Amino acid sequence: MPKLPAPPVPAALKEAPPRPDEPRTETGAIETAKQAGTTVIDWIDERTSLSGTGRWLMFRKVPKGTNWAYTLGSATLFAFLSQAVTGVFLAMYYRPSATGGAYESVRQITTGVFLGQFVQGMHLWGASVMIVLVFLHMGRTFLYGAYKYPRELTWVIGVVLLILTMVMALTGYLLPFDQRAYWATVVATNITGTGPIVGPYLADFLRGGPEFTTTTLSRFYAIHMLVVPGAMIALIGAHLYLVSKLGTTAPPWRRAHRESPFDTVEA
Ligand code: HEM
Repeated sequence: MPKLPAPPVPAALKEAPPRPDEPRTETGAIETAKQAGTTVIDWIDERTSLSGTGRWLMFRKVPKGTNWAYTLGSATLFAFLSQAVTGVFLAMYYRPSATGGAYESVRQITTGVFLGQFVQGMHLWGASVMIVLVFLHMGRTFLYGAYKYPRELTWVIGVVLLILTMVMALTGYLLPFDQRAYWATVVATNITGTGPIVGPYLADFLRGGPEFTTTTLSRFYAIHMLVVPGAMIALIGAHLYLVSKLGTTAPPWRRAHRESPFDTVEA
């Protein structure tokens, strides 16, 4: 892979050289404070050499023809991060107890906690936004042929991420533990049970037994806030590593005459 040159420092961040007639001033407290951020970053970089990795991640040549549709992956990532942040705040007040606690705690969040209704609304609507975005992103990568060699693994990891996103939606739906949540989950686990071979085992695993009991809620909560987000963070990391390593695919109409599958940069 060709070594990219260090990106130029934007003009706004460059310090203007002193004019010849200007008296040289001593570095005062304000000047030192202005330099503090740079000094801290330099200090960390000297010990970790992370700036090279940062440059590798952030400064890449992109194919000609890159357009707004390429932002859908980052938009999905943003939706995921928003779900993670709002989810942490909800977890501070939510009680995953089927015998009264869950339903009351969600009512308490939406009626009694400062900004609770806003955060709960963001989490609820954010789930739908993420599902829509992940499908649009998948559609974009499919239509642009981005699943082909050498990006098959990026696609396969994407498929697992899609399944996990839907598992998040399924398990999250039960948590308010109102009538709608309860019956929707009874239907969903029954449908899971009708699947071939693994269906009944999967349904029993989700319910925590053959019947929907109080264990089911705790199980869904653990899957929703620990198991699946943990797996998703790891897989998104691998997905983004591959995107950085391989670069993005040029739109099909721009690569009609390319000679090698790696030849995506038409600089
Ligand atoms: C949590 C879900 C996901 C996140 C956060 C995510 C994030 C991203 C980002 C940021 C990019 C680079 C920018 C772009 O091309 O849009 C990307 C590229 C890609 N993603 Fe995803 N993605 C997710 C799910 C999926 C799914 C469901 C698929 C397909 C089944 C998929 C397949 C791909 C492919 C093939 C690329 C390479 C695109 C190219 O080379 O042009 N991703 N992803």
